[in-house]
Amino acid sequence: MESGRGCEKSQRSWIRRCWTVVEIFSVILTAVFMLVVVKSLLRNTECEVKSSSRRILTDESTKRLESICNVTLYSDQCYSTLMSVNSTEPRVLFRASLVTAVEEHVKILGFLSKLVSSEESVKSSLKVCDEMIGDALESLKETIERFDEFGKVMTDVDIDEIRGTLTYAIIDYETCLEGFDEVKEFDFSSYQRNIELIKSLKGYMKKGKELVSNSLAIFTKILGGFAKQVDKSLLDSSNMVESLMSCRLTPNVTVAKDGTGNYQTLSEAVASIPENSKSRFVIHVKEGKYFENVNVPRKKYNVVVYGDGIQKTIVSSNINKIDKPNIHTYQTATFSVSGRWFVVRDMKFVNTAGPGKGQAVAFHSDAKHSVMYRCAFDGFQDTLYAHAGRQLYKECDIVGTIDFIFGHAAAVFQNCTIRPRQPLPKQFNTITAQSGGNYANMISGFSIVNSKIYPFQEDLMAKTYLGRPWNAYSTVVVMKTQIEKLIDSRVGFRGTTRRVLRPQLPMEST
Ligand SMILES: *[C@@H]1O[C@H](CO)[C@@H](O)[C@H](O)[C@H]1NC(C)=O
Ligand SMILES: *[C@@H]1O[C@H](CO)[C@@H](O)[C@H](O)[C@H]1NC(C)=O
Ligand SMILES: *[C@@H]1O[C@H](CO)[C@@H](O)[C@H](O)[C@H]1NC(C)=O
Ligand SMILES: *[C@@H]1O[C@H](CO)[C@@H](O)[C@H](O)[C@H]1NC(C)=O
Repeated sequence: MESGRGCEKSQRSWIRRCWTVVEIFSVILTAVFMLVVVKSLLRNTECEVKSSSRRILTDESTKRLESICNVTLYSDQCYSTLMSVNSTEPRVLFRASLVTAVEEHVKILGFLSKLVSSEESVKSSLKVCDEMIGDALESLKETIERFDEFGKVMTDVDIDEIRGTLTYAIIDYETCLEGFDEVKEFDFSSYQRNIELIKSLKGYMKKGKELVSNSLAIFTKILGGFAKQVDKSLLDSSNMVESLMSCRLTPNVTVAKDGTGNYQTLSEAVASIPENSKSRFVIHVKEGKYFENVNVPRKKYNVVVYGDGIQKTIVSSNINKIDKPNIHTYQTATFSVSGRWFVVRDMKFVNTAGPGKGQAVAFHSDAKHSVMYRCAFDGFQDTLYAHAGRQLYKECDIVGTIDFIFGHAAAVFQNCTIRPRQPLPKQFNTITAQSGGNYANMISGFSIVNSKIYPFQEDLMAKTYLGRPWNAYSTVVVMKTQIEKLIDSRVGFRGTTRRVLRPQLPMEST
């Protein structure tokens, strides 16, 4: 029946509420409920380095500039960028910082296009960087546009949007750089042969990264530094689930293995979605096991995919880093989505590579907003890559071994089941590997709420940890969650190979 329009509307507001809920949880991240908090622990890294070469200036406008640049990590860069701006108005300075960042990104893209390598792994990483820096540029342009639209009085939602978009740009940088970390790990000889090229790129990217970090700091600390008004009633999520469940979705296209739909594969259906269309596109994937790798690209917005249930509609593949060491981890995903406002429900995503095959992602999202409802994610190492943006996982089932919920995203896992499984004999399990980032002002972190953590099968022998932090500001909160006796040691935390120290926990056992 014509439930179409009202449904569209209620879903939209549902999604919007979800983001608010995601936000609330990021506020809760700092609240008393914390079971595990992994935080700013780096010492002697760039996070701690403050410029010492600040010049002594006396006049009023310079003092004001100083008070603004004081909140940034790269204050020398801040001075040199903003010194020439004929204003001390924070709004004007912030905008000027963004405009400089945009110009810098155009230059980086030009530089990238000239870099050539004959090595497959390096080539592939350069391609990833090109895409990521291009995406960061889009995010910066979008930030300027939105900022200009918002005018002088910004609501906390506006503030979050700008912070989210700038966070997104920083994650793009980290994703690009992680590509070279992967080359180093999986193809060391190529890494060595290309060390000069990689160094020159990193050097070239430095200023852009500093400008984005500074812009985010100025925005967060100066322009966005108001106390947030949070409507507590939004914490009650039951109404939003109801509105989603009661929605009878009308598919634009149907995928059916048996030929009774418009397409027989999900990839063909995704290819048929118009680009840059703001209207919703609904794909119904009928019962069946689909052996394919699906990618919903950035320019395909508002896509809704629904199946017939996690036991019935299954997308499965087995791409992994051992067999394909030249690709980035996110490129191993069985299902990957980058287009914003994505919703998926009642489906299962599997990566069958197995525990001996290294990183092998079942589901990856770096969509600016995505909702996964009643879905299952089944894999081993790196099952679920919550890469970037705001993500809500509701009533989902997640199974894996090492780092099986990981990434930079601001993600909430609500009413989920999280099930570590037996890896290879010498391996261990880490349920989360949140990336956080190296900057304090990013919106990033996982909240696991009202969920259950228990073994996938009886024979789970491996040491299992709640998580390991991947960066200085990695943050995971586990609250109102039942954890069965499977977490190793009193704290359930495992250090990484990186320079991250052991966290202080509010509760030493549970
Ligand atoms: C900037 O920071 C320095 C050292 O943290 C402090 O001495 C100075 O007063 C600050 N300047 C302003 C204008 O806030
Ligand atoms: C700076 O701004 C002031 C007032 O807005 C203006 O009078 C002055 O000419 C400007 N100076 C420059 C160098 O643009
Ligand atoms: C999907 O179908 C609906 C009607 O059911 C239509 O309004 C909408 O424009 C379609 N989406 C796209 C992207 O074509
Ligand atoms: C979600 O969590 C709440 C609180 O623990 C519980 O009452 C409810 O039954 C759960 N719902 C589902 C579908 O798991």
